[in-house]
Amino acid sequence: MCYECGSTSRRSFAQFLAAGAGLTVLAACTPEAPKAAAPSSSTAPSSVPPSPEAVTASAGATADAATVGQSPAAPSPTPPPSATLARQFSLDDPASPWVIVNKHRPLKPADYVPADLVRPAVAISAAGEAEAMCAAAARDGVGIVLASGYRSYSTQVTTYNGYVAARGQADADTASARPGHSEHQTGWAFDIGDGGGACSFEPCFAEQAAAAWAKANGHRFGFVVRYPWMLHPITGYFYEPWHLRYVGVEAATDMLNRGIGTLEEYFGLEAAPAYL
Ligand code: DAL
Ligand code: ZN
Repeated sequence: MCYECGSTSRRSFAQFLAAGAGLTVLAACTPEAPKAAAPSSSTAPSSVPPSPEAVTASAGATADAATVGQSPAAPSPTPPPSATLARQFSLDDPASPWVIVNKHRPLKPADYVPADLVRPAVAISAAGEAEAMCAAAARDGVGIVLASGYRSYSTQVTTYNGYVAARGQADADTASARPGHSEHQTGWAFDIGDGGGACSFEPCFAEQAAAAWAKANGHRFGFVVRYPWMLHPITGYFYEPWHLRYVGVEAATDMLNRGIGTLEEYFGLEAAPAYL
């Protein structure tokens, strides 16, 4: 599926980043050392209990805790696709800012590696936007740190296996993507933490100023909270108030204005509560 997808590529986007924000990316966000969350057996599916995640200190290899609980419910009906925003980018090409990766849509190829990641302390493709967002939050007195950016296929193997070892595969699948199925591997997603370090990758992060600010303002910089509260029957993952996905200002704002919470719904794709 490709809609005028030749007009803009991530490479040109990255070039824009390099020309604009520059490679001092994320300086305003004060990247912090990744943290390892303590393993937890856990609880209510909609309360986002804490969870473990394998962590390394290198860029693109950090923690991404998540939610645990019962498996996501059955898929809900998929609403029609967006009627107001023309499809500008491919939903299939991992280099596209609109690529949809979920339990039904693995990366192709599975070992995809972005060619043009900006590589500051935490590598993400939308680094310039992330920097701008964090700077704006700081101006509002809210500290946001970038906790996890790009993760390679092999890093995701470690991450996912850590969840499985701690919780078993069923719970792991509600919180961590299997290798080849993570948005982090596309370079278009990253995880934020609170500037004060509170509740990182924990359920209580949702109540932190960083999460509230990002939820309310992320669209201004092209980001959406990819795994919203209680929409796990569609996304396949419990609430992750820390996981932001770049889709561009136009699409992110359109989703907010229309009250559409997931990319699956926005693009008229089937719900992906479980692997096929
Ligand atoms: N925690 C998200 C779903 C990931 O592993 O990509
Ligand atoms: Zn994440």
